[in-house]
Amino acid sequence: MCGIIGYTGEKSGLDIVLQGLEALEYRGYDSAGLAVIENGEGKVFKQVGRVAGLRQVVNGQELAAHLAIGHTRWATHGRVTIQNAHPQVNSEQTIFVVHNGIIENFGELRDKLVANGYTFISETDTEVVPNLIDFYLKQLDSFKAAFEAALNDIHGAYSIVAISAHDPETLYAARLSSPLVIGVGENENFLASDPSAIIEHTKKVIYLEDYDVAVITKSDVKIHNLKQNTTPEPKVELIDYDNEEALLGDFPNFMFKEITETPAAIRSASLGRALADKNLVKLGGLESVIGQLKYIDRIVIVAMGTSYYAGLVGEYLIEELAGIPVEVQLASEFNYRNEPFSRSTALLAISQSGETADTIAALKKVEDYGVLRLGIVNAVGSTIARMTDAGVYCHAGPEKAVASTKAFIAQVTVLMLIALNLSKGRSKRFKPLLEELDVLPAKAQAILDQVENIKNIAEKYADYRDFLFIGRHNSFPAALEGALKLKEISYMHAEGYAAGEMKHGPLAMIDENFPTFAIATNSPLLDKTLSNIQEIRARKGPVVALATEGNESIKELCDDVIYIPNTEPETQPILQVIAMQLFAYYIAMKRGYDVDRPRNLAKSVTVE
Ligand code: AGP
Repeated sequence: MCGIIGYTGEKSGLDIVLQGLEALEYRGYDSAGLAVIENGEGKVFKQVGRVAGLRQVVNGQELAAHLAIGHTRWATHGRVTIQNAHPQVNSEQTIFVVHNGIIENFGELRDKLVANGYTFISETDTEVVPNLIDFYLKQLDSFKAAFEAALNDIHGAYSIVAISAHDPETLYAARLSSPLVIGVGENENFLASDPSAIIEHTKKVIYLEDYDVAVITKSDVKIHNLKQNTTPEPKVELIDYDNEEALLGDFPNFMFKEITETPAAIRSASLGRALADKNLVKLGGLESVIGQLKYIDRIVIVAMGTSYYAGLVGEYLIEELAGIPVEVQLASEFNYRNEPFSRSTALLAISQSGETADTIAALKKVEDYGVLRLGIVNAVGSTIARMTDAGVYCHAGPEKAVASTKAFIAQVTVLMLIALNLSKGRSKRFKPLLEELDVLPAKAQAILDQVENIKNIAEKYADYRDFLFIGRHNSFPAALEGALKLKEISYMHAEGYAAGEMKHGPLAMIDENFPTFAIATNSPLLDKTLSNIQEIRARKGPVVALATEGNESIKELCDDVIYIPNTEPETQPILQVIAMQLFAYYIAMKRGYDVDRPRNLAKSVTVE
């Protein structure tokens, strides 16, 4: 939700923090701020809006500060104002704190501090943190002791970083249910919400665990776990992608860049795993639980948003290829159900960021059930990746646009590999699908090669207020995902429906002002979908069809047709969704919106 960056070292903390904030801006962009400690004195700069505005505020400041923290905010408590922007500061302006997460008991803490003479100027929950540290600093003999005492009072989810004029070389950090990573440099160290903000400085990272408190100087990192009261040896890992992958390059925005990376996403999700020549699917991440997988007779998939729709496609794949019953649930719903859950049921969490609070909560819910917990995650080393017993990384590379595109493609590819792996080669679809995976990236590229055609069609529909997306079988979840793409970046009302439902309600909405995007690619159910299209056209509803190359007759039925290459039934959703990502993208661009940072949304929803 929010972005955090911290620096301690020999270089200019101001420049490093500003660069880091620009890399983190996709996480939250209501407001931004930073604090530096220079010559024993703290200075704070804040701005509503994007980081570019903050850079203007800071412009020209000659600050030789070597200790700095920064924050991009996605508002949870309090309006979008300068007072509510982070860093939040104690009344005496000596302690500076940035925070991602929610402090559930901030009201009682604020009352306690007011009763002890503290004053507050913001509407945020975060502002209690610097004042609580200050409160304990007056009673305890070190900043670290005061920092830990304050953390012990806080209930909720947080990644917190504090600096103080009392201690002008040290970053103090704490993590509970909200990601925070230490970047290990040469005579300098960093902190960030995610590695992409520091990768240009170092690829060596230490992922903080829940209840970890880290005390970081330019030459030393000490970690203390408050819950276990241990001081674990920091475990240094390497970021698994290069800096240029995380940068925009010559693309107009990250969303388009990441859509163009969908062929590569299929390749990298399959690389070393789909071995067509050996008629084998090798998933190293599942090998440690191969014995338990034998006894799994049901899989519950939990996810949110686009990852949930990938799970719905996965339901068809796993049930039809591996013969294992699958139920897909929104994690936010799963968490509050009291359903029977046998030990032979596996929970499979799907998440691009690996930090989605609802999905994390689902994994926590079954922690004591003694069931197998699996993950399909893109962000290496993320919370969900580390909570699960085993899993398969998507290897799609950093995805920074809020609207998930290449990650969905990678997720469905991985789900197909898992389904084939669980089928143990018994499925007669095994070989044809492994062979199709080999050529699928080229078919995805063929769609990208016709962006002009998709752009011209999409722009014709940019001024409508509503859109219906329909599909059947595994194209039904594809329709749901197509509708989500359109609604989240163009703000147009769009909903996905099973085509077979039309006469049970949705047809009532149809008139000349209510277009339909009909997924009508080659399938045994195509004739039924063509009938739906005729019903819609009979009521003057405009129709854009997504069809398989070669189907010329469909042109007579529809206003516009977008063609995609023929592919196996199981891999159709992958190509269908790439076309719908582009369709949504060009409508949003025509409407003039920021496709990377849609209003009201954030890339990683780390609060429920
Ligand atoms: C995707 O376009 C959305 N921005 C959003 O629904 C996202 O898929 C959802 O928040 C889940 O995120 P995750 O995959 O990181 O868990």
